[in-house]
Amino acid sequence: MLVLGLDTSCDETAAAVLEDGVKILSNIVASQLEHAEFGGVVPEFASRAHMRTIVPIVKEALGRAGTCIHGVDGVAVTNRPGLVGCLLVGVSFAKAFAYSLDVPVVGVDHIEGHVFAAKLADPDMALPAICLVVSGGHTELIRVEEWGNYRTLGRTRDDAAGEAFDKVGKLLGLSYPAGPEIERLAEGGDPTAHDFPRAMMERGNLDFSFSGLKTAVRYRLDDLGHVPEGDELRDFLASFQEAIVDALVTKTMWAADEHGVSTVALGGGVAANGVLRARFEEEAARLGFATVVPPKNLCTDNGAVIAAVGDFLLSNGTRDGLDLSVSASREQARAWRS
Ligand code: KG4
Ligand code: ZN
Repeated sequence: MLVLGLDTSCDETAAAVLEDGVKILSNIVASQLEHAEFGGVVPEFASRAHMRTIVPIVKEALGRAGTCIHGVDGVAVTNRPGLVGCLLVGVSFAKAFAYSLDVPVVGVDHIEGHVFAAKLADPDMALPAICLVVSGGHTELIRVEEWGNYRTLGRTRDDAAGEAFDKVGKLLGLSYPAGPEIERLAEGGDPTAHDFPRAMMERGNLDFSFSGLKTAVRYRLDDLGHVPEGDELRDFLASFQEAIVDALVTKTMWAADEHGVSTVALGGGVAANGVLRARFEEEAARLGFATVVPPKNLCTDNGAVIAAVGDFLLSNGTRDGLDLSVSASREQARAWRS
């Protein structure tokens, strides 16, 4: 079965073709550059860019997969959570595509997509597992009971981890998204140079909070009285990055320990961060947990992980109708139980 996976939830137009739920035939992502100078995504610009890009991106994905519209057996599209105007572009396209070609369409939860990066990376991954999903909009510790059956054990109470990177980048005059640039500028820096706070670190508390860290960074910049550069900036950013990585890794390991789960996995854009990936592997190895750390291009937003969820849902007989709608939030996430 060939599934076309689409994601237009934020500032990336993504399309992929996946064969039988495991083989990625193509995975095309067009990142929008129009937001860089604004320090965050401008929703109106994002929707318009998806409108311009979606047809060429789908054509490219089909072409690179060596197929055409008639080879597609089903369409999977992110329909929640995300920017409503952006989601509508992908969902409207997917419904028109499915209707005209008489193939099924299924709506996918973007966060479940990030979880499925681990399944694509290791189809035989042992379950139950703890998956840390860290993106620009979400920071969640998820217990994956089995594919399609999840429980959120902890989440951020304020900013998402990626949001913290992006906001601190903005304070320092870096362009959006700042995560990759902060990682690059922090390389070789001393992560102990500044003791930035880690919030809610009582054992057993699996929630996160990053807004205090952002405020601490702002005050530290005020104290310095200038924007650091060179080695000073490297140490500053390495310390900031360390505070985030420390909280994320520590709590993932606590979750695995408390839940008697022996596998830990990563997903979401921040999981492309090399320091997080290395620390995650190191700590898991030290504590005896198996890890699944997907390739970076499956961590950041992409269509392949959406197609993977789609393949799973379609194979189980799940179908959506042409009344499939979009939602900014995840309130009705069908696969989650509390
Ligand atoms: O999952 P994603 O691609 O989109 C959302 O669903 O939000 O995540 C984007 C987020 C942005 O906040 C970006 O700054 C962050 O992931 N990010 C990183 C890195 N690459 C992307 N943060 C830290 N280090 C990176 N290398
Ligand atoms: Zn995402």
